[in-house]
Amino acid sequence: MKKKIAVLNGDGIGPEVTKQSIRVLDAVAERFGHTFTYHEGLIGADAIDKTGTALPSETIDTCLDCDAVLFGAVGHPKYDNDPNATVRPEQGILGIRKALQLFPNIRPVTTYPTLQHLCPIKPKNMEGVDFIIFRELTGGIYFGKKHTAEDGSSASDECSYTKEEIERISHLAFQYAQKRKKKLTLVDKANVLDTSRLWRKTVQQIATEYADIKVDYMFVDNAAMQIILNPKQFDVVLTENMFGDIISDEASVLSGSLGMLPSASVGNKTALFEPIHGSYPQAAGKDIANILV
Ligand code: IPM
Ligand code: MG
Repeated sequence: MKKKIAVLNGDGIGPEVTKQSIRVLDAVAERFGHTFTYHEGLIGADAIDKTGTALPSETIDTCLDCDAVLFGAVGHPKYDNDPNATVRPEQGILGIRKALQLFPNIRPVTTYPTLQHLCPIKPKNMEGVDFIIFRELTGGIYFGKKHTAEDGSSASDECSYTKEEIERISHLAFQYAQKRKKKLTLVDKANVLDTSRLWRKTVQQIATEYADIKVDYMFVDNAAMQIILNPKQFDVVLTENMFGDIISDEASVLSGSLGMLPSASVGNKTALFEPIHGSYPQAAGKDIANILV
């Protein structure tokens, strides 16, 4: 087959990660007789330096014209340490997620025997750990209305979800659970948040269509603890945008390195593949992204 792949290197260790991924893709292409062509686009701090914006429209056009997107990382300390910056590298990845409608973000958590010494959890608690996080990626607090008072004395970020946004990813998560150990855990904060109560209600309704799936409901604070205490209890973890961001970094520790956790964001047409980590500027150019991130 012939496929066009957009390559968005971004910042820090981003270009190193995509470079190695392309080597893998080329090996696959050679072995199985495929043709992959690569089409670069600017994103993140790199794009800001060169064009003034974190997501130039050419980058969106390139992605829309390709079959898949390979994304490195975005982020730079000069923006992290400047809360007043109005143009930020992260706007690049958030913008592309929205533009390609990448609402389900899938992050598998597996263990690697060769990296076990890097995992802080007792080996006996790690046997059989294999779960997958379905993180909603285009809604919630990330994309809600933002406001900072003119005098800078207060700020707010709105978290909102529609039933449809919850339904479409939930069905995918349930269907995936059917192919696995048939267990789904919804992670929310339904004891406090209205949006979480909507998630819980919607998932409870959908669960009736998937009688073969055992469904658990877990508050996110407890889930954060359970991922460390008893990670093998999880199979498919379904959650909203912000909680998914936090628990996926936490879960990556189980595999021994944040650098080992992959992430697929699936759109209606073009999917985007990336590592879950950020740009890790301290390691940029050292070729150590895999192990130390
Ligand atoms: C991730 C990253 C991003 C996120 C950042 C870079 C905006 O942390 O993909 O998990 O928060 O979603
Ligand atoms: Mg993250």
